[in-house]
Amino acid sequence: TASTPAAHAAAAAPTGIRPTVTGEGMAALHAWVDEIAALTQPARIHWVDGSAAENEALLRQQVDEGKLIKLNPEWRPGSYLARSHPSDVARTEARTFIASEREEDAGPTNNWIAPDEIRATITPLFEGSMRGRTMYVVPFSMGAVGGPLSHIGVQVTDSAYAVTSIGIMTRVGASVLEQIADGKPWVKTVHSVGAPLAPGDQDAAWPCNDEKYIVHFPETLEVWSFGSGYGGNAILAKKCFALRIASVIGRDEGWLAEHMLLIRVIDPAGKAYHVAAAFPSACGKTNLAMLRPTIPGWRVETLGDDIAWLRPGDDGRLWAINPEAGFFGVAPGTGESTNVTAVDTLWGNTIFTNVALRPDGDVWWEGLTDEAPAELTDWEGKPWTPASGRPAAHPNSRFTVSAGQCPQIAEDWDAPEGVPLDAILFGGRRATNVPLVVEATDWTHGVFMGSNISSERTAAAEGLVGELRRDPFAMLPFCGYNMADYFAHWLKVGQQLRFDRAPRIFQVNWFRKGSDGRFLWPGFGDNARVIDWIIRRIDGSVGAVDSPVGRLPRTEDLNLAGIEVPQADLDELFAVDPASWLAEADLTEEFYRTFGGKVPAALYAELAALRYRLQRA
Ligand code: GDP
Ligand code: PGA
Ligand code: MN
Repeated sequence: TASTPAAHAAAAAPTGIRPTVTGEGMAALHAWVDEIAALTQPARIHWVDGSAAENEALLRQQVDEGKLIKLNPEWRPGSYLARSHPSDVARTEARTFIASEREEDAGPTNNWIAPDEIRATITPLFEGSMRGRTMYVVPFSMGAVGGPLSHIGVQVTDSAYAVTSIGIMTRVGASVLEQIADGKPWVKTVHSVGAPLAPGDQDAAWPCNDEKYIVHFPETLEVWSFGSGYGGNAILAKKCFALRIASVIGRDEGWLAEHMLLIRVIDPAGKAYHVAAAFPSACGKTNLAMLRPTIPGWRVETLGDDIAWLRPGDDGRLWAINPEAGFFGVAPGTGESTNVTAVDTLWGNTIFTNVALRPDGDVWWEGLTDEAPAELTDWEGKPWTPASGRPAAHPNSRFTVSAGQCPQIAEDWDAPEGVPLDAILFGGRRATNVPLVVEATDWTHGVFMGSNISSERTAAAEGLVGELRRDPFAMLPFCGYNMADYFAHWLKVGQQLRFDRAPRIFQVNWFRKGSDGRFLWPGFGDNARVIDWIIRRIDGSVGAVDSPVGRLPRTEDLNLAGIEVPQADLDELFAVDPASWLAEADLTEEFYRTFGGKVPAALYAELAALRYRLQRA
């Protein structure tokens, strides 16, 4: 077995072909790959070239191994279904760590652990963790290869599912190796599902380990992920690199890595505006990214649905790119009546995870159609009927698909220089208190708003769904450093912008509910009506009313043509109750205090001003 000295020796010398790219920077990469291989002892090493043929072969192999189900090509060409282990369905925030040298640099909102301590814990777990498996080496670029805002990394992983997902979500291949060869710095990411195979062992359909560690080393720009195959824990380019590590790089280099969708909105006159919006996981980013306006003359082009990197330009504007190349979206609730663009995007070449399987070999999830099919196989592989009394698809079931397949993707979505932002929106899922839309009076007030975002928990991470938690800038699980320093960094970036060219900041809430528990706002395509108001504010063509929490629309200024929103609902949508807001202000103070004096004074001043306005209201 794998523990005999002979087997150990064989495992220590994995087979594989080295890439042909040469250059000075490649030596460090080879040394690192050799080091990880010596630790994890894979049977083979496969340098991923990102070609279509390689992708095909990896998908076929996963089908042969029972890890993917090929969907009926008549309905869903080139598409697959993965069923995860029932315990490995979402990001595991309690197992996610920031291992900065100083505890203060991780801050109270992160799980901090000393780098030496966590290395001593995880190194033994990685020892031999890839035995019997292939170790894939995946060079990837976030942002167009070679772009001025782009960054590169390498993931080693023993999961073919991760490789095929990374291939959709990022730009993979030899052109990245050429950059490494040229000496461009790269982020090191290591992933193992933590399920070594002894000779003769039967592999699981979804190998994973009960013990999970998602560890970030911000000083050495490394991510080590053990035990999980779930996208957010396994596609390390995404939340781990493009948010947690990139936020630290951005702090040091003067830019922002944000949990934001990115769109271009074109008004009836043909004028284009760029909007970025930060909402917590499963709070509407992908939907807004693919908005189909219900008001005539307006168009939205998709640029990104989850992550945006923002950098002040020489022109005093804030420029944004979507560093990703695909969408890893929540399936449930995505349907013809809510997000037809997403449904059209998923016509083929999609990897689905934890959705239900139809008898005809296509997929289904709650909300895809109004009526559920009579018979399904649920996400755990069990027979299901509408009478089963449980969801057929997991609430956090996902689709992974290339951005290029989106029918309304902007033609220039991967332009290396990005787009200049006109507006930034912050939002959350709030049944009470927070109005449909509020405009910040200036950048500092906007940063104050962002720092105060709270949202009801969703199925995107483990935890109690519905519980209200603070999620500043929708970055609570994703900021790789002390959030008080992050607030200060936002203020500093604002100072780099020309006051008349900085994006205007707004808070939105699609999820306010009436006392009867129903959503007060129709949402989805009708969110264009809120965008319309926002853009007319930017243009200066519409007024606003001051409220203690910021500027609100006059309801007569909202374009509500073609929908019925009762006046009572409108009043409730924009109601600002001073008593509840004063209670929230107390919670804000309590939250700020957890940072032990690190929160910028400008934000305490905003808090004092808010209380003053509320007390006089
Ligand atoms: P993301 O994880 O932030 O990208 O969120 P999604 O866009 O995938 O949406 C998450 C959930 O929120 C889905 O169930 C959507 O149907 C729902 N959702 C999105 N936008 C709206 C909206 O405007 N109103 C309501 N009521 N639900 C929405
Ligand atoms: P999302 O993030 O929920 O914001 O789409 C994906 C994830 O869970 O990693
Ligand atoms: Mn999404």
